[in-house]
Amino acid sequence: MNPKSGSIRLTGTVEIVDAEGNLIETIENPKFCGCGHSKDKPWCDGSHKKVSQPVSALENARLSKTAIEPFAPETGLALQIREKLVSARTEKNESIVGLKIGGALESKENQTGVMIYGFLTDAMDASRGFDTAEFIYPRAEAEVVFKISKEISTPITLDQVLEHIDQVSVGMEIFDYRYGQAQIYSNDAVADNAGAAAFAVGEWVTASHTVFDGLQTNLRCNSETIESAPLSAIRGNPWEAIVQLSALASAQGLTLNKDWIIFSGSATKGVLMTSGNTYAVETPGLGIVTVQAQ
Ligand code: FES
Repeated sequence: MNPKSGSIRLTGTVEIVDAEGNLIETIENPKFCGCGHSKDKPWCDGSHKKVSQPVSALENARLSKTAIEPFAPETGLALQIREKLVSARTEKNESIVGLKIGGALESKENQTGVMIYGFLTDAMDASRGFDTAEFIYPRAEAEVVFKISKEISTPITLDQVLEHIDQVSVGMEIFDYRYGQAQIYSNDAVADNAGAAAFAVGEWVTASHTVFDGLQTNLRCNSETIESAPLSAIRGNPWEAIVQLSALASAQGLTLNKDWIIFSGSATKGVLMTSGNTYAVETPGLGIVTVQAQ
């Protein structure tokens, strides 16, 4: 077994027989497909490389802190790459704690904005420390965070959000695409797990339909406000982010689990984080969260 590609190689001479035991073929050292993507099953035809090569490139980019060029995978491949990258984290005992919502343009040809999401793990919690040297181009965004109190497995409406979310918070989402500052289209963004890098959550507040109404959020570096925006900049009303995510996740067969945290997507532009500075998202009426960048 090759654990990287999922292919299964048998060494020696292998006789392939039918159900009655009649010899069909004799093969030396056959390699079977274990990844499920071969067009010549049960044999491995090398298709696994379509996934493993970009996964390696993305992982190497993170390790070397060197941006790579976007590679515009098709949608199915982008999802497979994201799955491999997230699995690599869970295999290292990281736990998925929620999702971050993001946005990207559909493609070069179609400049429509689309919602995407990435998985957050406990290792991304910036309260454990945040070292800019571990990232390529980390940027902070001012968001709100939802805590799921009852799983969401089907599309929900605005009227139903409080049946599934009982607490909300101010949040700082830190994203770090492995493509540096290049324009990133949706499939590249999905492949890179929506650039999910780190996050910080403030104090939890009891959720209500009006909890975000009229609030303004400020993203600060030390004592200076760098970005400021109303929370209504998040899809007109941050609750809409959950409504739209429920439809997207459900279409992709993903259940939003109880106790997951969901970052709403940003109210502000991303602010580049540099070592030695303290960053804060302050939303008067909701709370404040700070991250010290090492
Ligand atoms: S393991 Fe090679 S194509 Fe599936």
